[in-house]
Amino acid sequence: MFSIPIWFLLLHFWPSEFKAEAGTTPNLKHIVVGRCYNYITLVNPTMRYDCEEIWRGFEEAVVRRSSCNVKVKDYRRMFRAMPQTWPCNRFLFWSKTRTLMHSYAAVMRHFWTLEDTLVGYMFNDLVWCGQEEDIGFDFNSCPEWSACVNHPVYSLWRQASQNFAESACGNITVLLNGSIDKAFNRKSMFGSVELDSLNPRMVDYVNIKVVANLEGPFIESCSEGSVVDLIEILRSRGFRWTCTDNDLALMILQCIQNPKQSSCQTCANSLLHRETFPFN
Ligand SMILES: *[C@@H]1O[C@H](CO)[C@@H](O)[C@H](O)[C@H]1NC(C)=O
Ligand SMILES: *[C@@H]1O[C@H](CO)[C@@H](O)[C@H](O)[C@H]1NC(C)=O
Repeated sequence: MFSIPIWFLLLHFWPSEFKAEAGTTPNLKHIVVGRCYNYITLVNPTMRYDCEEIWRGFEEAVVRRSSCNVKVKDYRRMFRAMPQTWPCNRFLFWSKTRTLMHSYAAVMRHFWTLEDTLVGYMFNDLVWCGQEEDIGFDFNSCPEWSACVNHPVYSLWRQASQNFAESACGNITVLLNGSIDKAFNRKSMFGSVELDSLNPRMVDYVNIKVVANLEGPFIESCSEGSVVDLIEILRSRGFRWTCTDNDLALMILQCIQNPKQSSCQTCANSLLHRETFPFN
């Protein structure tokens, strides 16, 4: 027998046992149901959904289950209450480019991201988990995503991402971050769920845009690093694809936030000599 020093135990078991995020977002029900009514009344008034039924499906999936034990299939009732289809050629996927993606989608008004779908709109930025012994949500603490296989928040996003990708059609756009290692990461939601759910018979082109920070580092590109692996996967599954490293619109968006960057001077000069505005 050997003995394990107590500091070793603390070091290894303390974090996973006790490291927890904040609990369920306060006023969760009001936020979720309110966003639902906002969506069907103001954002997308042509859609007919029963917001109360969606909430009941959500609540049924989450409460009375331990906070680490909500499976994708537990949300079935909720997703049945919110079927949605999207127009082709407007799907925008992204990984590790969240801030830029928001400005891009705001300017290129025709793009749809997961956050524009009803489910994405309702649950964006919220946290929730239930508790086994009690009926209701745990407002004190929720586990981190990495702490469990069946995390209630992860399971919902997993199914939402899968549905979104399965219905993708026409040309789709993928925004990847060229300033990090593994711009295409098999463990990300895009790499683990969305990519495998895309249907090559419905998708015409996968248009990849690799975008690095203006000041660098410049780590990955269409011909370097994990993006090459992504292209190989697309090729082997029969997708047509394009890949761009220096998308002008994306660069200008970054320059608006940081006009003094030296690379923005070149950008401004070249714009003066262009006949057409790049946002079209
Ligand atoms: C790339 O990822 C880094 C680290 O997460 C982040 O700081 C940066 O804003 C991202 N760049 C772009 C262009 O999204
Ligand atoms: C789809 O993408 C391809 C390749 O980028 C392009 O040639 C074509 O015009 C695009 N079609 C639409 C409908 O945007």
